[in-house]
Amino acid sequence: MAVDAPALETAADHLKAALKNGGNIVVFTGAGVSKESGIPTFRDAQTGLWASYDPQDLATREGFTQNPKLVWDWYDSRRNTVWDTTPNPAHQAIAELETLIETSYPTCGFTLITQNIDNLHRRAGSKAVLELHGNIFRYKCLNYGHPYSPELMPDLGEHRPPKCPHQNCNSDIRPDVVWFGEMLPTQTLEQAFTAAQEATVMLVVGTSGVVHPAASLPVVANEAGAVLIEVNPEPSELSLIMDCYLQGPAGKILPTLMTEN
Ligand code: OAD
Repeated sequence: MAVDAPALETAADHLKAALKNGGNIVVFTGAGVSKESGIPTFRDAQTGLWASYDPQDLATREGFTQNPKLVWDWYDSRRNTVWDTTPNPAHQAIAELETLIETSYPTCGFTLITQNIDNLHRRAGSKAVLELHGNIFRYKCLNYGHPYSPELMPDLGEHRPPKCPHQNCNSDIRPDVVWFGEMLPTQTLEQAFTAAQEATVMLVVGTSGVVHPAASLPVVANEAGAVLIEVNPEPSELSLIMDCYLQGPAGKILPTLMTEN
């Protein structure tokens, strides 16, 4: 698919103007940004995770309570899949944008907000990442949220998930990700909404825009006057409010957009 040259030029002009004028650049990503690393998205009709698995069983507190071993094993297998992947040119372009702003546009702001739990933005070199839905490489206990260090993990065998070693706790250890029906981490969410409100340009990359509150961030940015640029091979729930739509895979579009700046 050829990149739409006029749309790309318009997007690059918006980005350039924001950089020149000390604006705030916000990048908001979803599962699509990691697709070219080989990580399935959630809602793709054929390959999406929710096409083969029921999120009620695997991504809710109730599902974990009913079958902790099943949920533990599912996240273990996802963690292994993610571990074996590497950041793709989209993650790299976003990390380069942060570095470019730090080194050449010190009066500009930059915020990266992701719904992804795969840690690939950090592995690509992004320094400040607001992870709205947690991180699959972190653990905490079910009852109190005591952080759990994976180095403590014994050889589990059939005894999984492990138990919280915190004094008198002993509750099950779970991945430190946000499940359906759970609150997002308060401080991270506040920082994300503040960044959206103050954004000059927001790049919305690889999200279907159906899961709230995360999906409200572009709406907030739009209402506050930001220029919205979407990068996605398919239109999303958010496409209608976009100023600019760059149709195509993020791993191709974002590096091209960066070379225009
Ligand atoms: P979805 O699976 O809902 O959407 C993925 C989006 O990525 C779609 O709009 C695709 O068109 C797009 N896409 C596919 N390939 C792409 C590529 N190469 N480049 C750019 N975009 C591409 O994933 P999310 O929007 O991230 O939450 O889903 C939001 C939340 O729903 C997730 O964080 C997760 C899920 O249930 C929780 O688990 C709490």
